[in-house]
Amino acid sequence: MQFEIWTKALAELTVDCVAVGVHDDGELTPEAKTLDGRCREKLSRLIKRGDFTAKLGETWLVTDLEGIQAERVLLVGVGAKGELARKTWRRAVSAAIGAATRTRVTSLALALPRPAAKLLSDERLGRAVAELTGASLYRVNDLKSTKKPRAPALSRVVVTASAKAEEALKRGTAQGAALAGGAALMRNLANLPGNVCTPTYLGKTAQDLAKTHKSLKVKVLGLAEIKREKMGCFLAVTQGSEQPPRFIVIEHRHPKAKGAPVVLVGKGITFDTGGISLKDPPLMDEMKFDMSGAACVIGTMNTVAELNLPLNVIGLVASCENMPDGRAIKPGDIVTSALGLTVEILNTDAEGRLILCDALNYARRFKPAVVIDMATLTGAIVVALGTHHTGVFANDDALARELVDCGAVVDDRAWQMPLTEEYGEQLKSNFADLANVAGRDGGSITAAAFLSKFTQGLSWAHLDIAGIAYQGGAAKGSTGRPSAMLLEFLLRRATAS
Ligand code: BES
Ligand code: MN
Ligand code: ZN
Repeated sequence: MQFEIWTKALAELTVDCVAVGVHDDGELTPEAKTLDGRCREKLSRLIKRGDFTAKLGETWLVTDLEGIQAERVLLVGVGAKGELARKTWRRAVSAAIGAATRTRVTSLALALPRPAAKLLSDERLGRAVAELTGASLYRVNDLKSTKKPRAPALSRVVVTASAKAEEALKRGTAQGAALAGGAALMRNLANLPGNVCTPTYLGKTAQDLAKTHKSLKVKVLGLAEIKREKMGCFLAVTQGSEQPPRFIVIEHRHPKAKGAPVVLVGKGITFDTGGISLKDPPLMDEMKFDMSGAACVIGTMNTVAELNLPLNVIGLVASCENMPDGRAIKPGDIVTSALGLTVEILNTDAEGRLILCDALNYARRFKPAVVIDMATLTGAIVVALGTHHTGVFANDDALARELVDCGAVVDDRAWQMPLTEEYGEQLKSNFADLANVAGRDGGSITAAAFLSKFTQGLSWAHLDIAGIAYQGGAAKGSTGRPSAMLLEFLLRRATAS
């Protein structure tokens, strides 16, 4: 996909299709008026006739207008007049690109109104255009044997803008293209079934990244090495599975990056049956998405390398299956974590925290500036926040606020949850240093509290993405979230250092 910024007259632009905005009362936006003037008011007459109601996100394709270079004009409903909200703009841009992909349009110009710069900077606008284009073009990697429908023809997107915005927009579209690539990689991995996307498969995928990106160094630990690391909690989860576990280390180093690295940690349970504490059959298939955190780390490392960010970033993935078996862990079993704390496993379905606690401990050796883990950790976060916000937990309030703010400005939203001592006290065990569960109440918080026992002295945040990383129902599949929030966070760190 090629992105281009057009700063000259709209009439001189040569593309297959120009998208212009129409307000919901039928009034044309300035760009639409310009075109309307050139084609003897054909557009305004069309709207007066009432065929196109111009509701937000609705589109109408008009072809072969005389006086206009482009063969097609796409009318796009951009909502009410007045200041344009970011969400509204995103809806309109998505609608325009979506409509273009359903035609044979190869080049599309977006001549739409935009939100004020204080709501959306030029750089973030460019990033969002490329991100939304990538999302529009993404096709689920299904394993259907029937022939795939014809791919969209769109290969060039042009953004009309003022000359002074050009540089920032260009930077933005490059970021957005890299983001879209990373998000697509995340989605492809997460959408694959558990019998294809195994821990071994994730390890191979990571190794392949190192072949395409010079800045990346990848190391994949197998069972013997994981044993050598004394990751007793991780080993406990994998022991009931026939699939060998993998611990993946992806390092992006940049010669100009001074400071300590940002370490990203992902939960990579390629299938979560619950183990001996077996889950109910309904929706159990969705537990193939239980490696979404890992997929997001791998996708984000791809984005970071693609942009060659002047920042040291390290991605860690702990990956295995959670299976019931004669050799599987049982409720009441006590194991020793790499940190040395003993854990009584009261519920084998609370396995994510077990693999993450050992991964978080591994992060220490990098003397990180910050550690951010992401995991489809609890059903309780879905009860608390639904499917819109990532749950943010941290032992460092400033870091939590930074992440929430990053999510807000790129519309990949997050919400900070409390993480005070009381919750940790609920994890007391009679027989070990701590238990892996603490009852139903505040389930997402006690899960985070468990992780916090392993992150003392680190600046750490935990993202519970169980509600946002994938969708169920008719549009079942990975969403690519929270890749956009993470990239915003990393870009800020890269420009600050
Ligand atoms: N992978 C699940 C969490 C999950 C649930 C993700 C629903 C997405 C949708 C996790 O391993 C799990 O099973 N958590 C348990 C914890 C409980 C046993 C304390 C849960 O949420 O029920
Ligand atoms: Mn589980
Ligand atoms: Zn799980």
